Amino acid sequence: MYLQHLSLTNFRNYVRLELDLPPHVSVFQGGNAQGKSNLLESICFLATTRFSRTVAERELINWDVMAERLPFARLSANIQKGERATLLEIVLSPRSAAHHEGRAVVGPIQKYIRVNGVSRRPADLIGQLNMVMFSPRDIDLIGGEPALRRRYLDITNSQVDPQYLKALQRYNKVLSQRNHLLRQIAAGQSRPDELLFWDQELVKAGAYIVLRRQRTIAELNDLANPIHDQLSGSREKLILQYRPSIDREAPKLGGFPEVEQAFNRALGAARPRELARGLSLIGPHRDDVGFLVNEIDMGTYGSRGQQRTIALSLKLSEARFMLTQTGESPVLLLDDVLSELDPERRRHLLGAVSNYRQVLITTTDLDRFPSEFLARAEKFRVADGRVEPA
Ligand SMILES: Nc1ncnc2c1ncn2[C@@H]1O[C@H](COP(=O)(O)OP(=O)(O)O)[C@@H](O)[C@H]1O
Ligand SMILES: [Mg+2]
Repeated sequence: MYLQHLSLTNFRNYVRLELDLPPHVSVFQGGNAQGKSNLLESICFLATTRFSRTVAERELINWDVMAERLPFARLSANIQKGERATLLEIVLSPRSAAHHEGRAVVGPIQKYIRVNGVSRRPADLIGQLNMVMFSPRDIDLIGGEPALRRRYLDITNSQVDPQYLKALQRYNKVLSQRNHLLRQIAAGQSRPDELLFWDQELVKAGAYIVLRRQRTIAELNDLANPIHDQLSGSREKLILQYRPSIDREAPKLGGFPEVEQAFNRALGAARPRELARGLSLIGPHRDDVGFLVNEIDMGTYGSRGQQRTIALSLKLSEARFMLTQTGESPVLLLDDVLSELDPERRRHLLGAVSNYRQVLITTTDLDRFPSEFLARAEKFRVADGRVEPA
């Protein structure tokens, strides 16, 4: 698949952008704060309706139009999948905007989504445009908070499996209701036996998430293994390990019945703690992923350099995963990642991504690319929210 045309209106520092993109490599060069990351993140947003940086959606609308009577931002993408063309559109607009003493007071942001002109829910948009984003912040996936790894699993799985997203939405709803009940029990306003119903709902919605995460991590592990072997000059054996909250000791849980059983067992064991805290302590919202090199946990003990290489192996295997799961080459977005890498890893990365249908790379500096690579790429310049062929 590839992104044929991108159109932005009032998105971040892009007041108006109409950009045709070729089905191969494009390199976007520009100084700092010109709009390189915003450009790639607009594509990420069209693919997932989420921003890769966790920011409030109102920040996506251009500042200067926020003062207008009806501020909005619009993003659209023409996707080509084989012979089939698809038009994706997102409009962001505050539900209400009023003016108060010369200042715009903006209500909550509404998201309007259309696929081929027909209104859709966010869940229907995900999976239309598959992408993998490489960013300098990927290193946080290895050494950062578990929440980042869960978010990563959720975005990756949602892109390849619509049912995963449905299960996740259901799970989050059940979780918040169960937490509400636990607080009420703690306050003496509900009876503990009311939990039994919500336990079953939690297990029902959560089991699918656990199974899918388990399978995805097993497949990413198989793909990352040889990639990391190459990137580390055969010095490091990388293992990705799923650490489900329902059974930390057994990363391999088997099928549905085993997962349901383990889930119920863990809920039973955690009951006193959950009642005391008034909080759900067991389930996919507490999962984690471990990265082991030569059996040592790299999240805790890895050097910055090791973590960075693991992040790169993970992203390259994610691209392969996306390809094998969907049968379509995902769009690869590389946001300023070359400067972080030594020449050998840089060469490996550029070689690996060249095998994909479409690759968009941002950089401050064209010197980082081998001249043969640049000769085959389409080149653009990014300056102050504008993109011009270079
Ligand atoms: N809502 C917005 N309206 C206008 N400008 C914005 C908005 N959000 C961010 N910007 C600006 O966009 C500029 C470009 O950001 P970015 O794409 O991150 O630059 P870079 O080229 O360094 O990757 C920054 O100067 C930032 O202040
Ligand atoms: Mg940037």
